Amino acid sequence: MRLDFIFNGIPSCVFIQRDTPTVAGIMGALELPAAPPRVLAICDTNTKTFAEAAGFGGGRMIAENSALCVLEPGETAKNWASVETVLRAAHNAGLGRDGLFVGIGGGVITDIAAFAASIYMRGTHLALISTTLLGMADAAVGGKTGIDLFGIKNFAGTFYPARAIWMPLSTVSTLPPAQWKSGMAEIIKAAILSDDEKDFWNSKTAFPMRADDTLLPQLEKMLVAAVRLKGRIVESDPLETGAERALLNLGHTFGHALEACVGLSKLTHGEAVAWGIARACELGVMLGITPAERARAIIALLDSFGYNTAAGHPALPRAENNQVSFMKALSADKKNKDGKMRFVIPSQKGAVLVSLMPEQHPLVCRSAFGAWE
Ligand SMILES: NC(=O)c1ccc[n+]([C@@H]2O[C@H](COP(=O)([O-])OP(=O)(O)OC[C@H]3O[C@@H](n4cnc5c(N)ncnc54)[C@H](O)[C@@H]3O)[C@@H](O)[C@H]2O)c1
Repeated sequence: MRLDFIFNGIPSCVFIQRDTPTVAGIMGALELPAAPPRVLAICDTNTKTFAEAAGFGGGRMIAENSALCVLEPGETAKNWASVETVLRAAHNAGLGRDGLFVGIGGGVITDIAAFAASIYMRGTHLALISTTLLGMADAAVGGKTGIDLFGIKNFAGTFYPARAIWMPLSTVSTLPPAQWKSGMAEIIKAAILSDDEKDFWNSKTAFPMRADDTLLPQLEKMLVAAVRLKGRIVESDPLETGAERALLNLGHTFGHALEACVGLSKLTHGEAVAWGIARACELGVMLGITPAERARAIIALLDSFGYNTAAGHPALPRAENNQVSFMKALSADKKNKDGKMRFVIPSQKGAVLVSLMPEQHPLVCRSAFGAWE
């Protein structure tokens, strides 16, 4: 399946397919000249096997014109030092401005590779091979690049869409269960925003947190919907200046506040987002925006995937000081405007961005912590 987008005038195509593409396939899709430019593949120690399967390293390297840069895995590697490592590897391999960076991995690697590509000699060619569910459903599409700095996530970054992105479904079979749970929340989020969570609901009983070959067509269908939705929204607001892109934050406002209060490493991002979606549903019912039946169906869907959806997350006991720090974290959300908290709330169909008056804030606290008996 091929999906084509144009982000801020730059064509970006997504290939959702079974296998990892080959170097030749990548060159062909990018329509690069017959004498290919020098290529730098960037991966981490866990995704090196996929880089090798694509033909980078592992004895199949097209030695004269490609090099492989292997970083440490995980969020802690999303820093300046990794960017420097990538830029140095590109320089040592003799890449010019017509060179090609290929990022192969989850959201961390694709964010670093894309950021490095955007600043290497003021911008070089970029392709991505996304190998996590979260990367496929979200991180690899839309052109946001970045690294963490000063302890702040994605503090430095650019908008630099990859010309081509591959999502080889066979790669996710090796993902650890926590990574499945993390990525699946973004896929469910996309289904809610596109108002097709009922299809999801109908099929989910046959869809455990793993993938074997028989499940790949179903996974493909869900991902196509998620990528289409993200692509369409980013096309309409590529530099995130308007409100529509904010819809993609469904579940993230409550989720980020939870992460801020309990610490980033305690929960996966997807677990926090799933809990946040359930909270947004409850807040939506209290505000009269989410039909109770839809809220119940969404929460039941999240429950069926094993997410924690109850008010008062076990990692965040209902003590008064927790409530204060939670509300403080919500107040710091970058969607807020003119002192008003803003939330993405599931509506009759899809979701809407809602501004709350200060007198409505107790409802927010109630949806997060539950009512006091
Ligand atoms: N640019 C964007 O628009 C955007 C959007 C959402 C998230 N992000 C970023 O994405 C990052 C999170 O991405 P992630 O969840 O993919 O984490 P990740 O990239 O850290 O990958 C998670 C772990 O899985 C390993 N891994 C990757 N593919 C694997 C596979 N197929 N089999 C086994 N292990 C594999 C990785 O090495 C890593 O250890 C965050 O830094 C976040 O800021 C970016």
